[in-house]
Amino acid sequence: MSGGKKQPLRSRQWYQGNSKSAFMHRSWMKNRGVPDDMFDGRPVIGICNTFSEMTPCNAHLRGLAEKVKFGIYEAGGFPVEFPVLSPSESQTRPTAMLYRNLAAMDVEESIRSCPIDGVVLMAGCDKTTPSLVMGAASCDIPAILVSGGPMLNGVVKNERVGSGTAVFRWVEELNAGTMSEEDFLAAEAGHARSAGSCMTMGTASTMAAMVEAMGLGLFQNAAIPAVDSRRAQLSQMAGRRIVDLTRARTTIGDILTREAFENAIRVNAAIGGSTNAVLHLIAIARRMGVDLSLDDWDRLGRGVPTIVDLMPSGRFLMEDFYYAGGLPAVMRILGEHNLLHREALTVSGGTVWDQVETAEVWNEEVIRGWDKPLTDEGGIAVLRGNLAPRGAVLKPSAASPELFSHRGRAVVFSSIEDYHDRINDPDLDVDETSILVLQNCGPKGYPGMAEVGNMGLPKKLLEKGVRDMIRISDARMSGTAYGTVILHVAPEAAEGGPLAFVRSGDWIEVDIAERRLHLDVGADELDRRAENFVPSLPSVASGYQQLYRDHVEQADLGCDFDFADASCALSPQRVSH
Ligand code: FES
Ligand code: MG
Repeated sequence: MSGGKKQPLRSRQWYQGNSKSAFMHRSWMKNRGVPDDMFDGRPVIGICNTFSEMTPCNAHLRGLAEKVKFGIYEAGGFPVEFPVLSPSESQTRPTAMLYRNLAAMDVEESIRSCPIDGVVLMAGCDKTTPSLVMGAASCDIPAILVSGGPMLNGVVKNERVGSGTAVFRWVEELNAGTMSEEDFLAAEAGHARSAGSCMTMGTASTMAAMVEAMGLGLFQNAAIPAVDSRRAQLSQMAGRRIVDLTRARTTIGDILTREAFENAIRVNAAIGGSTNAVLHLIAIARRMGVDLSLDDWDRLGRGVPTIVDLMPSGRFLMEDFYYAGGLPAVMRILGEHNLLHREALTVSGGTVWDQVETAEVWNEEVIRGWDKPLTDEGGIAVLRGNLAPRGAVLKPSAASPELFSHRGRAVVFSSIEDYHDRINDPDLDVDETSILVLQNCGPKGYPGMAEVGNMGLPKKLLEKGVRDMIRISDARMSGTAYGTVILHVAPEAAEGGPLAFVRSGDWIEVDIAERRLHLDVGADELDRRAENFVPSLPSVASGYQQLYRDHVEQADLGCDFDFADASCALSPQRVSH
């Protein structure tokens, strides 16, 4: 249990008594008609909202926040909604990941500097979920996360399409003249036909599932469609619960325990979740003071099959997942196979097992039986070797078994621009046994570790029918991507990791069963190449980007800032007037 349980609510520091400060804090709040008794000692609940029309996945969160407010009032709290930075996966360049840590700082400092006793975190799009949890974690405050929920299934010409899954095909068809521009624009509309976040098991849905698995969201938080009335109901219930949690001084630290993270890692395997969750959970754990490493990801996920048949690995979408029983049904199945810490506490009040014990599966095509999984190994493989001394990750379920043990020659690209310039050059020395290597796309190198690791294959090989090749980089990949893609190589090239010293023609050995990633170049030769190393760093465009580059940690530590651990528990604030 966290400290400070018997402390008065921190909002009393602002609102209690009749000092000049208390007058000023209360009076300005009354300018929108807040009655006197809202300052009588009831919990002040922040609603931390990533609503933004530039983050379309979260653009409906103002409406859901109103339902949260109902719940807070019903339970006797005083709700105060406030905005924070909202990195948008679909609009932000060069990558929303560059802004995850900035949003986390915004959340933390907004809570820290204001009279907030408990907080409801409203998120949806990929980075908004981890940034809000990271910020609240640094404050160790009572918190519940309410996800915006997934969009309804994409439907185009009566075909079920997932977010992003058919875009390449449509672009190709348009370019080939087999799809009209009118149909192309109609596909854009049908592909994103309601409020909500991406409805495949991409990063947004994965992170919503991680929140639910860790007990930080109410049950069914991950899967209820954004526009389903039950999402509004859940929001209202979350408003009621946060007031209870705040009165009980149950903080996020009581929920996000080591056991909660272990539950989440196994759930990630069972749902076939995104590789991005590896970074985000490690970053959150470090802020919670929970020791969680890449090796935990590898060890805990081993032997856990993927039983949820959702795109990009499978056939269905989040709407189908909800109707089939959602995450509680998956967690109940994990629990029955002794892969769940049943006693972990949740924001619902009881334990995880209380919540999921009776959850049923209503559609065994979508949530499959343990004995007929989508893939046997749903976990994340962590590879190490002289090419990735601090680790690299790969999703075996998305990879091609024939490439699990492979020796091939490197074809090296020094940047994503270099890749685009040369990948379709008919003279590029590449065949299906080659290994594509991309450098300088890591946290410092890009900067922001863009989702470019799943490089497309050379056109001349695609035309030969080649569908997969090994690709290695210090970048990330989209949660909706696929292939034998080795990501998050640490240290990154721009940091002087061995990835920087690979040259085209070098032999690389990959052995997924052995978790091995080896560059077959002698140590002396590697030392020689390292001698004149100058990091390849594109110039930054802003002061923030410089701060990011100067302070971002490597991928094995979750890409948080190296100063994030300076945060301490919420302490009394000095007066402002
Ligand atoms: Fe926002 Fe996918 S772009 S969730
Ligand atoms: Mg993404």
